[in-house]
Amino acid sequence: MSFNVAIDGPAGAGKSTVAKAVAAKRNFIYVDTGAMYRTMALYFLRKGVDKNDEAAVNKACMEVSISIAYENGAQQVFLNGENVSGLIRTEEVGNMASATSGYLFVREKLVELQKEMARKSDVVMDGRDIGTCVLPEADVKVYLTASSLVRARRRYRELTEKGITCDLKEIEQDILDRDHRDMHREHSPLVQAEDAVYLDSSDMTLDQVVDAIGRLIDQKIDGQ
Ligand code: DC
Repeated sequence: MSFNVAIDGPAGAGKSTVAKAVAAKRNFIYVDTGAMYRTMALYFLRKGVDKNDEAAVNKACMEVSISIAYENGAQQVFLNGENVSGLIRTEEVGNMASATSGYLFVREKLVELQKEMARKSDVVMDGRDIGTCVLPEADVKVYLTASSLVRARRRYRELTEKGITCDLKEIEQDILDRDHRDMHREHSPLVQAEDAVYLDSSDMTLDQVVDAIGRLIDQKIDGQ
């Protein structure tokens, strides 16, 4: 049986950095499910699909094949055979992913892929619905969050380090809008699973968060 760690939380909470570090320490595979929704969204953007037209989104979704591979431990995501890992990190793609991930058809397709990966390997999987829908039997579940201002500051730093000019207030508003969409959609909204451990990383370092999750994994393994 594979060992599964589920990390859910809002945009910018540091899930991917934390999940990657936890996975590397344990030699688990890190599965970034947001990247799958982003890949789907990139296709919709390229095709000029209207995000409000569910039938058009569903139709386009059927034309997409997503696959995952690992290069030096880093997840690479392929859209119909093309490695698009470097193209999916923009705000435009993120917003399209947030809008279209609410559709059941899109979710079902990607959730199936995610479940299969977790069946085959020990994984640390991050997303919005991992502990609640994708891996309800996960061995360890964490709900990782941080205040919207802390999340906006982190994003602001990331963008300015890349030489991108941006506005902190706008970024925070964008984060709040995205949270609202992700938490209030009809299908698999972002909620803390009842049995998930709540971690607010606003005043924690990366190492502290990674150590806290490491302890949860140890406790689970020791208790088995
Ligand atoms: O984590 P991220 O910013 O890469 O995710 C992009 C969008 O994809 C996010 O706004 C909501 C959606 N998403 C989802 O609905 N379910 C997941 N398991 C992961 C992401």
